[in-house]
Amino acid sequence: MLKNDLLLRAARGENVERAPVWLMRQAGRVLPEYKATRARAKNFVEFVKNPELACEVSIQPVDILGVDAAIIFSDILVIPEAMGLPYQMIEAKGPWFEKTIKNLADVEQLKIAQADDLDYVMKALQLTKKELNGRVPLIGFAGAPWTLFAYMIEGSGSKTFSKAKQFLYAQPQVAHALLEKITQSTINYLKGQVNSGADLLQIFDSWAGVLSEPMYYEFSLHYISKICDALSPLVPVTVFAKDAHFAIQKISETNCSAIGLDWTLDPLKSRGQAGNKTLQGNADPCLLYADEKKIISDTQHMLRAFGKQRYICNLGHGLYPDLDKEKVKLFVNVVKEYKWE
Ligand code: CP3
Repeated sequence: MLKNDLLLRAARGENVERAPVWLMRQAGRVLPEYKATRARAKNFVEFVKNPELACEVSIQPVDILGVDAAIIFSDILVIPEAMGLPYQMIEAKGPWFEKTIKNLADVEQLKIAQADDLDYVMKALQLTKKELNGRVPLIGFAGAPWTLFAYMIEGSGSKTFSKAKQFLYAQPQVAHALLEKITQSTINYLKGQVNSGADLLQIFDSWAGVLSEPMYYEFSLHYISKICDALSPLVPVTVFAKDAHFAIQKISETNCSAIGLDWTLDPLKSRGQAGNKTLQGNADPCLLYADEKKIISDTQHMLRAFGKQRYICNLGHGLYPDLDKEKVKLFVNVVKEYKWE
């Protein structure tokens, strides 16, 4: 069915002719074509809720950058919204929630989201799957429960996430009740994504790095592991826990198929910690500000370090909006043209 299934084979640990490549935040502002489509929506939230526009920007990077997968254009914040906390995306600032969670009564008011509550994401996936017509796999995603919890408590981004962490220390039982509700919502949501055409799922734990190691296992990985248990019988699941350098081995003990690495991690050391899981990453997005020669040599060096099998080439975090599209293309082409021994 799929003409290019490199990503799925790599994720499952099957043999590949070359490493697949896609980029976090590829469906985004690095492409002028994205900006043009976005201008047709009233605001970011309406953009995310429009399946035709979401489909258009999900496919743009496949056509323009030549990546080996599409990721559905959406946001991790659709889950808090479906549970009862609407969000806005403030220009040049980021996410903002008018209501936040303060206590058990607030948690009890939240609903457990069902796939139907996120019908617009399901429609966007169905449409994108159809438009892709088997060219490349389609990636679905969700935020990790801890990362969503952090937004639901703070109401916005934060340097320290100290309010969210305060909640873990001061009201641990309420925190677990909320994390459990987010987890159940996420499982319903991701099962819906698979039914709507997602071939692989990625869990983004963007704020993993603000927790201590024991707190990370108790309040984050425990719930990610439940999600992997529920979804991995259906499709491969990639866990990307940014800055959780201490957790690679423990992540490899979950039922995930692949582990995303940020750019601070060493490929060889990570191989030693990750058992037989596939690794994904991990070029510094800022490498793409360098000149062409440096981009080519560092990318080739990274490919050699990870090796051809059980590897998905990507950045160590998302593309920055001011990167030059030609340099992004160069990165993708270096991976696709690399002469493996
Ligand atoms: O990767 C992709 O191309 C798919 C689309 C995608 C978006 N957000 C679209 C988006 C994905 C996978 C996300 C995930 C997401 N959203 C994460 C986890 C990944 C990460 O970057 O750590 C987080 C933490 C969010 C929350 C969020 N959404 C923030 C903090 C912001 C503002 C800051 C920023 O990076 O712009 C967003 C907005 C957002 N989500 C944009 C896009 C393309 C930019 C909005 C715009 O068009 O101006």
